[in-house]
Amino acid sequence: MKHLLSINDLDKGSAISLLNLAVEMQQVNSREVKKLPALNGRTVANLFFEDSTRTKISFELAAKRLSADVINFTAKGSSVSKGESLKDTVQTIEAMGVEALIVRHHHSGAANTIANSTWSTSAVINAGDGTHEHPTQGLLDSLTIRQRLKGAVDKGDLAGVRVLIAGDILHSRVARSNLLLLRLLGAKVGIVGPATLVPDDARILADFIYFNFDEALADKFDVVMMLRMQRERMNSAFIPNETEYSTLWGLSESRFKALSSETLIMHPGPMNRGLEISSAAADSPQSAILDQVTNGVAVRMAVLYKLLAQETSLK
Ligand code: NCD
Repeated sequence: MKHLLSINDLDKGSAISLLNLAVEMQQVNSREVKKLPALNGRTVANLFFEDSTRTKISFELAAKRLSADVINFTAKGSSVSKGESLKDTVQTIEAMGVEALIVRHHHSGAANTIANSTWSTSAVINAGDGTHEHPTQGLLDSLTIRQRLKGAVDKGDLAGVRVLIAGDILHSRVARSNLLLLRLLGAKVGIVGPATLVPDDARILADFIYFNFDEALADKFDVVMMLRMQRERMNSAFIPNETEYSTLWGLSESRFKALSSETLIMHPGPMNRGLEISSAAADSPQSAILDQVTNGVAVRMAVLYKLLAQETSLK
């Protein structure tokens, strides 16, 4: 069975071909009838053990646009509250005839556990596991960068593109998937944040590391990708206080205005407006934040199509 658990499941060629397939899916999504028959009669389950707005809806829409039947499982309100295990939850859902699981979980490695188990036979797509990875977010971000910087129908890699990832990198599966994919596609990636929130593995992957946001911004990146400060994953005092965080690490209106008018602003959402990003930056024409959301549907259609309709290995 084929899975998408990590960007490491892709190589450069397969990543680019997924992005190009997503461009074809965008054409379907721009038609009046936004539907392909590819997964007619197939059943996909959204298995969300952690809250989500855009990822869950985006996967649901992607599966429906390929004509699959979709069921939505959220841990809240399910038998998980009665102590049902991950294994029993998965087996129960599979027993009803589901063949793909889109898994979001608060534990890093949860999607891998299901995919590599003897008790699941489904194709597994990692929709965000703990602080580990969020591969479809990486793909939709690369598609957004490619289209905004190189044009809607570009079919190439991201060589020559410079991306700065800023903020709470430690807790961000988005940062990890982006570091892997952007570098696979030939981009140069800088990371910046308070030292307590910049972990060793990200330092190894990055091309440039900064601990001062203004110094990083002065180095003129094509893309500034802001990350949410993930209060819910912070079990100790990583930052002095939120006022200081926003002063030192926020893309404030004045920092935003000092950037070139060509700099693309990104954020995976949900945003803490006024903390890591100002409304001036988030709502500007330079912001690609809603493009990221739109592109998420096409990218997830491409991934579901490859794994379920073509049943080909991603690499
Ligand atoms: C992110 C996530 O859940 O990993 N959001 C998303 O999927 N678009 C980022 C976050 O929670 O900050």
